[in-house]
Amino acid sequence: MNTKNFVLIILSCLVLVISGCSKEQDTSSTNSNTKSATSSMAGLPEKVDPALASAGKAVYEQNCVFCHQADAIGKPGFAPSLTNQEFLRVSSDKFLMATIRDGRAGTGMPPFSHLGRKDVESIVAYLRDHATQANISAQVDAQPRSQGDERLGRFWFDSICATCHGTNGDGYIAGSTGTAIGKAGFLDKATDGFIRETIKVGRSNTRMIGYSGPEAMANLSDGDVDDIIAYLRTVPSK
Ligand code: HEC
Ligand code: HEC
Repeated sequence: MNTKNFVLIILSCLVLVISGCSKEQDTSSTNSNTKSATSSMAGLPEKVDPALASAGKAVYEQNCVFCHQADAIGKPGFAPSLTNQEFLRVSSDKFLMATIRDGRAGTGMPPFSHLGRKDVESIVAYLRDHATQANISAQVDAQPRSQGDERLGRFWFDSICATCHGTNGDGYIAGSTGTAIGKAGFLDKATDGFIRETIKVGRSNTRMIGYSGPEAMANLSDGDVDDIIAYLRTVPSK
């Protein structure tokens, strides 16, 4: 073997080693992403009964479409999206059904207690039919409760969240672009896990961006997020 061939062989070995290394780096960075955002959790959405979903579409179109729009994509500053993937992922049937039944007092979301359980279930099936990701609400609702410091949370809320959700989280009614997260109608039905996930991951294609991770506008730590939840829990009584 002459020197030229020998150098070539060494070079191609090096290329193999380097590409092997960089592949390993790729996998490890994917892993750390998975850890920081549950959003990348794979899995398929649950199967929806097509007859129930199409019945639900009709009930939806009679009662909800005016505010939540066609395909429930929502309307900024007026009604939130109900087919947003990050929303559907963390919403349990219980949360959806109770919110539809009771509405949200002091907001534009009226109660639909006059609809029978079957109708409400069919709406939920219609909404779920838009899901492209697995429903992780059971894990999210089982997360521990926030042990945060409400005084620190208030600082974050006033400096970041109030811009869109209103000074006391009063929502659209106060001219805000975000929903009424300071009102009992939301807080009594949302678990700390639901709120935590929403703050960290955000909701794609809405103005609610995620607040966790290097690409976030403000990279809030898990502790900061829990401080905000602790503060939010105190707002309705103020
Ligand atoms: C740039 C505007 C903006 C900012 C800043 C913002 N949000 Fe939001 N947020 C929204 C919008 C808009 C929605 C509703 C999304 C939709 O329309 O579908 C939302 C939804 C939410 C929800 C879900 C509420 C529900 O009704 O289900 C929570 C919880 C929330 N935001 C918390 C926060 C917190 C806490 C902060 C501060 C760290 C914050 N947001 C900052 C715009 C914002
Ligand atoms: C008159 C307008 C209006 C109608 C009609 C209406 N909604 Fe709403 N809905 C709203 C508003 C406004 C909100 C946000 C309230 C807030 O600020 O927290 C909302 C919130 C919701 C939420 C919570 C979403 C979230 O991000 O947490 C669900 C679920 C919902 N509506 C389902 C329905 C369904 C299903 C129907 C029909 C049966 C319906 N709504 C009819 C205005 C409406």
